[in-house]
Amino acid sequence: QVIQLSDYQAPSYWVDETSLCVQIFDEYTDVQARLKMRANSDRPTGSPIVLQGVDLTLQALSIDGVAVANYEVQGEDLIIPAPAATTFEVQSRVRIYPRTNTSLEGLYVSGGMYCTQCEAEGFRKITYYPDRPDVLSVFTTRIEAPKSFKTLLSNGNPVASGELDADRHMAEWHDPFPKPSYLFALVAGDLVDVRDTFVTCTGRTIDLRIYVEPHNRHKTAFALSSLKKSMTWDETVYGREYDLDIFMIVAVDHFNMGAMENKGLNIFNSACVLADPETTTDDGFERIEAIVAHEYFHNWSGNRVTCRDWFQLSLKEGFTVFRDAEFTADTHARAVKRMDDVTLLRTSQFAEDAGPMAHPVRPSSYIEINNFYTLTVYEKGAEVVRMLHSLLGADRFRQATDLYFDRFDGQAVTTDDFVTCMADVSGLDLTQFKRWYDQAGTPRLKVEGHYNAAQQTFSLMFEQFCPATPGQPEKLPFHMPVKLGLMGKHSGAELMFSTDHPGYDATLQTFSLRKANDTLVLRGVTEDAVPSLLRDFSAPVVLSYPYTVEDLRHLVRHDSNAFNRWDAMQTLATRVLLSAVRGAAEADGLKTVLTDAVRDVLVDDTLDHAVKARLLRLPSQAYLAEQYTPVDPVALDKVHTDIRRDLGQSLAAEWQVLYGQTQPEAAYVFEHQQVARRALHRVALSYLIAGDHTAWHLAAELYQQADNMTDQSAALQLWGEVANEAWDEAMNGFYQRWQDDAQMAEQWLSIRATVPRIRVPEIRRLTEHPGFSWTNPNRVRSVIGGFAMRNPVAFHADQGAGYRFLADAIIQLNSLNPQIAARLCTPFTYWRRYTPEIQDAMQTELQRIVAVEALSKDVYEVVSKSLV
Ligand code: ARG
Ligand code: ZN
Repeated sequence: QVIQLSDYQAPSYWVDETSLCVQIFDEYTDVQARLKMRANSDRPTGSPIVLQGVDLTLQALSIDGVAVANYEVQGEDLIIPAPAATTFEVQSRVRIYPRTNTSLEGLYVSGGMYCTQCEAEGFRKITYYPDRPDVLSVFTTRIEAPKSFKTLLSNGNPVASGELDADRHMAEWHDPFPKPSYLFALVAGDLVDVRDTFVTCTGRTIDLRIYVEPHNRHKTAFALSSLKKSMTWDETVYGREYDLDIFMIVAVDHFNMGAMENKGLNIFNSACVLADPETTTDDGFERIEAIVAHEYFHNWSGNRVTCRDWFQLSLKEGFTVFRDAEFTADTHARAVKRMDDVTLLRTSQFAEDAGPMAHPVRPSSYIEINNFYTLTVYEKGAEVVRMLHSLLGADRFRQATDLYFDRFDGQAVTTDDFVTCMADVSGLDLTQFKRWYDQAGTPRLKVEGHYNAAQQTFSLMFEQFCPATPGQPEKLPFHMPVKLGLMGKHSGAELMFSTDHPGYDATLQTFSLRKANDTLVLRGVTEDAVPSLLRDFSAPVVLSYPYTVEDLRHLVRHDSNAFNRWDAMQTLATRVLLSAVRGAAEADGLKTVLTDAVRDVLVDDTLDHAVKARLLRLPSQAYLAEQYTPVDPVALDKVHTDIRRDLGQSLAAEWQVLYGQTQPEAAYVFEHQQVARRALHRVALSYLIAGDHTAWHLAAELYQQADNMTDQSAALQLWGEVANEAWDEAMNGFYQRWQDDAQMAEQWLSIRATVPRIRVPEIRRLTEHPGFSWTNPNRVRSVIGGFAMRNPVAFHADQGAGYRFLADAIIQLNSLNPQIAARLCTPFTYWRRYTPEIQDAMQTELQRIVAVEALSKDVYEVVSKSLV
C-alpha cells in the first residue's frame, strides 16, 4: 500500500492531553491510555475516530466511561464511529509483549532493560493512538514495575514516585510541551546515572544525566562534556535555550539507528554515546560528539517545531544535520569536516540518487517510511539547507531561523514553511530553489572557460542538466549557488575581477545559476587563469570542467580554498585510476603525474596534517565504482591495489620519513593536532604495507606499542591485509581481552568481516561465534554489513557465494527485524551497475527474496523497486 503526499489531510480530532499508565510485568505489559480528544473544527463533523495499533491485544475500550463495541479494525486502523460530543475522552487498555519484540520498535527489552523507539510509527505498538506527527499532545506517563527496575523514566519532569507494594514501585512524569507520539519515550531498568549541570544563557540550571548499565559508568564523561558544548553552541549560534529542567540520555545496546531525540529523554545506541580513551577511536569520539549534538539540537529543530507528515522528514533531519556539521566544523577543523562530508555524499548519497530507490529530499510517496531515513533526506537535505545559508549569508540565515522558530513554535509544519521564512527575511525569490526538495537525482554541472587576453575577460559557460530518476523523466533547472574564483596561471594568485551579471554576488563570491545554460563574463582579468569552481562544494552536483592534469596540479598547489585544493587532488587521482581501469593508453603517463603530485604533497611541510592525510589518501573503491559502468569489482580492486603498491614503492623513502615524523610524542588525547598526526601516521603505514608486505611488522609493532584504540585498530586492519598467523594470534588476544566490552566486541567482529581475504565459509562461521547475535543490530552491522558493504573484494568473490550469503541473512532478518533487513538490501539495489554475470547473480537473489512468504513492507519496498 502506497502512501502519497498528495493525500495529506489534517486530522479530524486533536488529542489535547494524553495520560498513560504502563504496568510492566514479567511476561507482558499492560498499557492504559486516556486521550482527551477534541474535534478539529476545520474538518467535516461526524468523521469517525481513527487510531492506529499494531500487535496490541485490546482488553477494554470506552468513551467517557461508556464501553465501545461498534468499532472496526482495518489493517493498522481502529475505527470508532463519531461520538455526539465534540470533546470527549477515549479510554483503552491493551496488553503487549515487549520481551518478544525483536523489531526494536515500540516497547522492547534490550539486555535487561525496557526501552522504546517510536519514530516514525512505533507508538502504535504501545497503544491505540492517532500516530501521526501533526497531532501534538501534553503527555503524563505513569510507570509501574518490579522494584528490580530501579530506574523508571519518561519525558518531561518527574512529578511523583513511590512504592506500590513489597515488590513493585511507580514513577510519574509530566511533559508540559505538546509533542507528537513519535517523541514519546519510556525506560525501565537497573541503571546508574552520571550527573552534571548546565547553566543556560538566562541563568536557569539544568540537571543533566546519562543513564547506563553499571559496567559502563566509566564511559559517560565524553558524552556529558559534548552535551554541554552543544548546549552552549546552540545558544550562541542559534539563540536556542534548553526548555525543560532536566535533560537525560540513556544508552541501550539493541538499537536500530544511532540515537533518538525523544523530548528530554534521548535514547542512544550505546555505540554512539559510550566512550573512553582506552577503547574509543578518534573517529569514534568525533562521531559521538556529533550525534550527541545532533539529538540535542533536535530539541528545537524537530521537537519544538516538528513535521506535519513524514514526507517532511528532512525539515528536521536535513536542518539538524546541517546544524551538527557546523557545530563540528566550529569545534574542530572546518575544511576537514567538509572533505569528510562531501566524500560521504559523493560515495553513498550520489549512488542512492542514481539507483532504483532515488527519491527527492521531500519524497512524494512511500510504502514504508522507515526506508526513507536515507542519505538523501539527511545528507542531501543538509546540503539544501547549506545552500540556503550560502545564498542568504550567515546573518540573514540566522534572522530567518529566528523567524522560523518564532513563527512555528509548537506547530507541525512543512519544508515549504521553512523556505518561506528564508524568502521573507531575504526578499529572495526562492520558488525555483524549492525544486531541490522535489526533484530527485544528482544534477550535472558542465562548465567551460575561455580567456580573452585582449579584452582581459574570462568567460565561464555553464550548462546544467539532471538525469531521469524513477517517476521523474524530465527535470527543470535548479537554482544553484556556485562559489568560485580564478587562480592566475602564471602568478598562482587569486585574481580580482568584476562582472555585470546580476546573478553574481561579489560579497559571497557566489554565482547563482538559474538557467539551463548561462555565461558569466568576468572582467579585468589580467592573466589567463584556472577557475576554481564550486568552492566548499557549494551545491550537491557533479561538476565537470575540461581541466588538464597541469591545471589540476596548479589548483592542488595554489588554490586559496583549502577544500578545492583537496578536491583537485581527488579529481586528479580519480582520473588516473579510471584511466587504468579502462586500460587507456595514457594510463602509464598519468600514473607518473600522480606520483609527482603525491610526492609534492608528501614533502610539503606547510600543510596541516589532517588536510595532508586526506590529500594523500586515494579515492575509495566505492567512490570509484560510482564513476563508471559496468563495474567489475575484482578488476577495480586490482587496479586500486596496484596503484597503491606503485605509490608505496616509488615513494618508499618518503613514506618512511613521514612514518617516522608522525610517531606519537605524548600520551593519548582526543585533540586536533594529535588526531591529525595519527591520521597521517596511518596513511604512511598503509602505503608502506601496500608497497612491501613485509612491512606488516610495523603494523604489529604499532598494535603492540600504541596507547590508544585509534592506532591499535588501524594497525590490526592494515596488518590483516597481509595474511599471517601472528595476526590471528593478535586477534584472538584482542578478543580475550575485550569480549565483555560491547563496543570492542563489535569492533573485533567488524575487523574480521572486512579483511579482504575473508570468504563466505569463514563469514558464516563468524555468525556462529558467541560474539555474534542476529537480534543485535550492531553485531549484524559489524559482520553482515562489514562483509557486504565495506569489503567489496570479498563480497564479490567466488561467483555469487557472497550474494547468496547476504540474501540468506536478509531472509532471516526479515522476520526478526524488518528495518535492519531492508538496510542490508542496499548492495543489491545497485545490481545494474555491474558486469552481466554479476547482474544475473544478484537478480537471482532479489527474486529469491521477493518470493519469501510474509515479506515485510520494509524489504518488499526496496526489493520490488530494485527489480522494476
Ligand atoms: N530521529 C532520529 C535521528 O536522526 C532517527 C530515528 C530513526 N528512526 C527510524 N525508524 N528509522 O536523530
Ligand atoms: Zn535526526
